[in-house]
Amino acid sequence: MRIIGTGSAHPKRTLTNDDLSQMMDTSDAWIRERTGICTRQIITDEELDDLAAEAAQKALDDAGIAASELDYIICSNVVNEYVTPSMASIVEGKIGALCPCVDLNAACTGFIYAMDYAEALLQSGRATNILVMAAEEPTRMVDWNDRSTCVLFGDGAGAMVVTQGDSLKALKVSSKSNTSVLHYKRTLEPTPFITKEERHIPLYMAGQEVFKTAVTCSVSDLMTVLSAAGLSKDDITYYILHQANFRILDYIRHRFGVDSEKLPMNVDKYGNTSSASIPMLLDELNRDGKLKKGDLLAFSAFGAGFTSGACIIEWNK
Ligand code: COA
Repeated sequence: MRIIGTGSAHPKRTLTNDDLSQMMDTSDAWIRERTGICTRQIITDEELDDLAAEAAQKALDDAGIAASELDYIICSNVVNEYVTPSMASIVEGKIGALCPCVDLNAACTGFIYAMDYAEALLQSGRATNILVMAAEEPTRMVDWNDRSTCVLFGDGAGAMVVTQGDSLKALKVSSKSNTSVLHYKRTLEPTPFITKEERHIPLYMAGQEVFKTAVTCSVSDLMTVLSAAGLSKDDITYYILHQANFRILDYIRHRFGVDSEKLPMNVDKYGNTSSASIPMLLDELNRDGKLKKGDLLAFSAFGAGFTSGACIIEWNK
């Protein structure tokens, strides 16, 4: 795998902590101190698939290839308007591609899972150019009366185009089933045969348990991929971590012992955008000219499942 283009797209509506304080019993001070989040972009009258297609098109433009040259589209997504067809198939139509398309759901870790699938396709020679993307609208999953969860999330989409290459140095994904700490259950339509009352459960999160598990998994995954790649923590130029919240990221940074310049963040602007957070941050770094050929990037993410994953990839665009 080699990354040749990145793109991202954000909804237009900015929701500030002060806006939230008008809606519920919370404050800018509480949200900033506990999460580092100041604003988030949230979907109003846009469609998530339009944002996804915008991110995809920007990634193609950055890569300098046409949609017709894509051999596969893999999209990480938890919820969107369509249960079927897949978000990848919808994006395929919007950007004018013609290739196999599939969505996967590994919650906030989805983008690293998508990279794992892409690498397998590239290694087997079954694809040359793959669009690997994530599009998420967690603001459709939260209970807007639950101040402990709704303040944490924002929406967005991120994408990258990868091609044949040897930039991926190591990748690890894992899952340990634990549905109780973090879940969302939608209501399904009744059938003549299912009479039990189905209850919609908005996003539930046992905040402190998720916090601890996230830190433990991320530190362990990063150690694993560093060791698999024969690298030390100082060899990494940037740690691009799932932007869940500032305190989690800072704990990981301290436990790992790396300088803050190595751990870029944009959670203050976007909140937790689930699996879209890593490709969105990667695109921001790329567009800001912060990435140099040969830089080593470590990605790490964690989320419902409980899933987690990390990888190390050289920037060779
Ligand atoms: N505004 C004001 N007060 C709030 C609040 C809000 N938005 N949300 C919760 N509180 C209150 C609680 O009701 C509680 O009040 P009480 O002491 O009177 O009962 C108090 O703040 C402390 O709540 P607690 O849940 O113990 O806070 P915390 O320090 O654990 O912080 C999180 C809560 C969610 C920020 C924190 O647990 C966290 O970051 N967890 C990980 C979340 C995450 O990133 N998940 C995604 C992983 S993919």
